[in-house]
Amino acid sequence: MYKIALVSDLKILLSRQQIAQRVAEIGAEITRDFRGQSIIFVGVLKGAAIFLSDLARNVPLDATFDFIGVSSYGNRPTPKEDPAGHAAWDSLGEVRVTKDMDQSLSDRNVILVEDILDTGLTLNYISKLVMAHQPRSLSIAALLDKPSRRKQPIEARYIGFSIPDAYVVGYGLDYAERYRNLPDICVIDNPVANL
Ligand code: IMP
Ligand code: MG
Repeated sequence: MYKIALVSDLKILLSRQQIAQRVAEIGAEITRDFRGQSIIFVGVLKGAAIFLSDLARNVPLDATFDFIGVSSYGNRPTPKEDPAGHAAWDSLGEVRVTKDMDQSLSDRNVILVEDILDTGLTLNYISKLVMAHQPRSLSIAALLDKPSRRKQPIEARYIGFSIPDAYVVGYGLDYAERYRNLPDICVIDNPVANL
């Protein structure tokens, strides 16, 4: 249990050791799958930055990085507007690119790196953008998956952990931009009370 200023309860769901072990396993899988080839990791800002940096260091292949920034159109309802909780992090389905990729993805092996696969709307949108570049291949690596929340089907080739429908923070994941720096992945017990 963490005790940080203004935070009541953060319960550890996945420890840094569990995360490190699983990230190493996914790295080994990617290394096997792309042996002898080059890859480009494309991280979805900002949540995937920490996962990407750990994952990439477990893949001893010729590799480059790029990042894409996205946000949902309009503001998501705040927890205060939606005390029941859910809509506070529901994707709105319309995604806006806030930072485009820098490199050409044409004929590249693209690994799209995301922190968490929730409704699937964000990754569906980004996948379409990437496919328009005509990559050689596109694979998705998501550290976390909440399958019970899916609204659009999406194929992720590499998944770290399937988790229940709870709001999680840490290891890149935020709540109102905070907690990304926690080394473990934690469940916020009562998000509304924490703001
Ligand atoms: P999707 O479009 O619903 O799949 O949205 C995925 C995005 O929602 C992720 O990239 C996160 O930014 C955010 N998200 C979904 N669930 C959580 C969570 O439990 N904690 C933090 N962010 C989340
Ligand atoms: Mg995100």
